[in-house]
Amino acid sequence: MGEENKKVVLKVFRTNYNKNESSHYDEFEVPVNRWTTVLDALLHVKSYSDTSVGIRYSCRMASCGSCGMKINGRPSLACYTKISELNKDVIVCEPLSNFPRIRDLVTDFSQFFDHHKKIEPFIHNDLVPLDIKDKDDLVEFEQSPKEVDDYLQFSYCIKCGLCYSACPTVATDPSFPGPQALSQTYRYIADNRDNDKSTRFNILDERHGIWRCHFAGSCSAVCPKGVDPALGIQLLKGHMMGFSKNDKKVANLRAKNKE
Ligand code: SF4
Ligand code: FES
Repeated sequence: MGEENKKVVLKVFRTNYNKNESSHYDEFEVPVNRWTTVLDALLHVKSYSDTSVGIRYSCRMASCGSCGMKINGRPSLACYTKISELNKDVIVCEPLSNFPRIRDLVTDFSQFFDHHKKIEPFIHNDLVPLDIKDKDDLVEFEQSPKEVDDYLQFSYCIKCGLCYSACPTVATDPSFPGPQALSQTYRYIADNRDNDKSTRFNILDERHGIWRCHFAGSCSAVCPKGVDPALGIQLLKGHMMGFSKNDKKVANLRAKNKE
């Protein structure tokens, strides 16, 4: 059979939790070629077999982070997973683990984003007044290429939740912030424009916080953007252990700025 005539079976998890429906799998045969992604195949199903299959997607180019699902058991982006590379005749699509389910492949990201918001994912810098009225009061922060490199990798996160879905600690403790929120904390701690470490450290230094991570590493294995959250968490732990020293540095900087 020529590659252009190849077909695979998509086995899709189905349920509607809003209606308390019990779950089952539906199977659909779809034509695929070398470049067909799992998202393409699911959209083919919606166009030609069953319009009611629930999926979430937007960009189709691994940028928006909305099409995460388990594909043959592994948290993956459907738009970034080519069927030819899976090398299987049956492709199983299931909702991400560790997220409350809504319908079919769609999960609820509220808890995930709550963890993200809690770490205050923006630059804190009390050396710059928030109520700037005159553009001449604007301050420019210069960063060397090395200083940008310190956090750049971690800024590539698209909040797709794959790491959160793969994390064994999140699976047993939903109050644990998870690899995304923790590695984003490191992204801001490592950014030398940010000078408020204590707020975020206090948020994470608690019973359900950063110390629950036991470095399974599954978060980094599934990240589609090369963020390496496990590395960020270990580096963040190091910063927290040396916090008093760093805090002194910040205090000196503040004092110098006031002179
Ligand atoms: S760290 Fe990677 S896997 Fe986790 S949310 Fe960000 S992009 Fe997705
Ligand atoms: S559709 Fe945007 S990441 Fe897949």
